Amino acid sequence: MHVRRKLVAGNWKMNGTRAALGEIAAIAAAARETAGVDVALCPPFTLIPLAAPRAGGVAIGGQDCHQSPSGAHTGNVSAAMLVEAGAKLVIVGHSERRADQHEEDSLVRAKAEAALAAGLQTIVCVGEVEEERIAGSHVDKVLYQLEHSLPELAREAELVVAYEPVWAIGTGRTATPADAAEMHAAIRAALVARFGDAGERIRILYGGSCNGANAAELFKVDQVDGGLVGGASLTAAQFVPIIEAAARS
Ligand code: PGA
Repeated sequence: MHVRRKLVAGNWKMNGTRAALGEIAAIAAAARETAGVDVALCPPFTLIPLAAPRAGGVAIGGQDCHQSPSGAHTGNVSAAMLVEAGAKLVIVGHSERRADQHEEDSLVRAKAEAALAAGLQTIVCVGEVEEERIAGSHVDKVLYQLEHSLPELAREAELVVAYEPVWAIGTGRTATPADAAEMHAAIRAALVARFGDAGERIRILYGGSCNGANAAELFKVDQVDGGLVGGASLTAAQFVPIIEAAARS
């Protein structure tokens, strides 16, 4: 039986200016008091170099990176640039990028490879849309995304999977514990089938309307190793109870 330390990662999306740096300091202060859980925060690119020195033990990360180290890619940021800015991790394949920027599994995989090569912990997101869940194809969809989005394993400690049902993101609806248990068990089985024992050590986060009221219940589910949190990570008041729930679970 593998004991995986819980990870709670905040995804600020396109929210946060300098005025929000106080929240990061408050989250860092609370995280210092909470043992036994890893905490990360992914603010917009512009805040990374400002947030990193204030974050203490909270790892600061990016929300995306380009798959190339440099070049003529207007508006993009490379993994090495994130590292230089102070990032320790990056999210790739978020459903908003898959939808808004038409990112496909092969691109997500290339980004994950670039991120790992640069030394970033890499959170690869997968998740079904509502029609797929209604049709009963949600597990097949997520396992397909997983197979094609994950890189060959560099070091399992640096790879994290986030299961985020698209219909639960920003909607206030969450997967039930039974839904999460079904999907996380299927993801774990796929990771072990592909990576052997190393697949047991990859953390699988749940994401989608995770908040202080539902986190404890979700984090108790077998194979749920923490959360990827959007809206409820924007303030210390909302995010700290989620960190505490992870520490207790
Ligand atoms: P949410 O977002 O917590 O606001 O639903 C989660 C995510 O998109 O990572």
